[in-house]
Amino acid sequence: MLAIIGGSGLNQFPELEIIAEQKVITPYGDCSAPLIIAKISSRQMVFLPRHGQGHKLPPHQINYRANLWALKEAGVTQVLAVNAVGGIHPTMEPGTFVVPHQIIDYTYGREQSYNFLLDGYINHIDFTHPYCEDMRQQLIASLLSANLPFQQQGVYACTQGPRLETAAEILRLQRDGCDLVGMTAMPEAALARELGLKYAALCLVVNWAAGLASEELSIDDIMKTLVAGMDDVKKAIFLFAKQ
Ligand code: HPA
Repeated sequence: MLAIIGGSGLNQFPELEIIAEQKVITPYGDCSAPLIIAKISSRQMVFLPRHGQGHKLPPHQINYRANLWALKEAGVTQVLAVNAVGGIHPTMEPGTFVVPHQIIDYTYGREQSYNFLLDGYINHIDFTHPYCEDMRQQLIASLLSANLPFQQQGVYACTQGPRLETAAEILRLQRDGCDLVGMTAMPEAALARELGLKYAALCLVVNWAAGLASEELSIDDIMKTLVAGMDDVKKAIFLFAKQ
């Protein structure tokens, strides 16, 4: 079963055929919101808004462990994460979609692991390729058939937030080889891997990263790009779920 984790701009998904709302209590506490059990293209799926209903939770206060745990408990096997991001690479201008293939984690102080033992050993998951390649290819096919502007790979820099970066920080990320910057890919992707869930991300670039545009970053402009892109995000998700 597929789960969609909605990011900024996708806190609600009224186009889904909702079957039930399910509050889940996990050993790690509450998840961001009750799970929405719904149908998409006649398949049962789960929707979870990462920032909670009404976008109350900042990236560093999201209970990622509870979220992924609740999805696993609900029978989810595949997670499609939606993230709003800043563009660093020159091809990643606002309005572009990116299907990232790599992550560099700059977060700190977040609960990074379920701390499982595997056969008595610490569970050092293989995380060479953090995103599921099959799901990535499926996303690429959906974006192609939706005729949306996209980049089929990119290195996602996950910063701590909630503030946006300084211009010098973005230059450092650029030197590190990062193409896009957001605050929510980690530890979400690693926790999904620990639980054996397939995981991929559909990222929408909503601004040039700090210092890369002539003007300062404006939350108003970011929100406008975010709102303008949401119909396309949903179109891509529907096409993805059909495959
Ligand atoms: N930086 C970090 N996270 C973001 C950005 C950004 O510029 N835009 C959207 N999410």
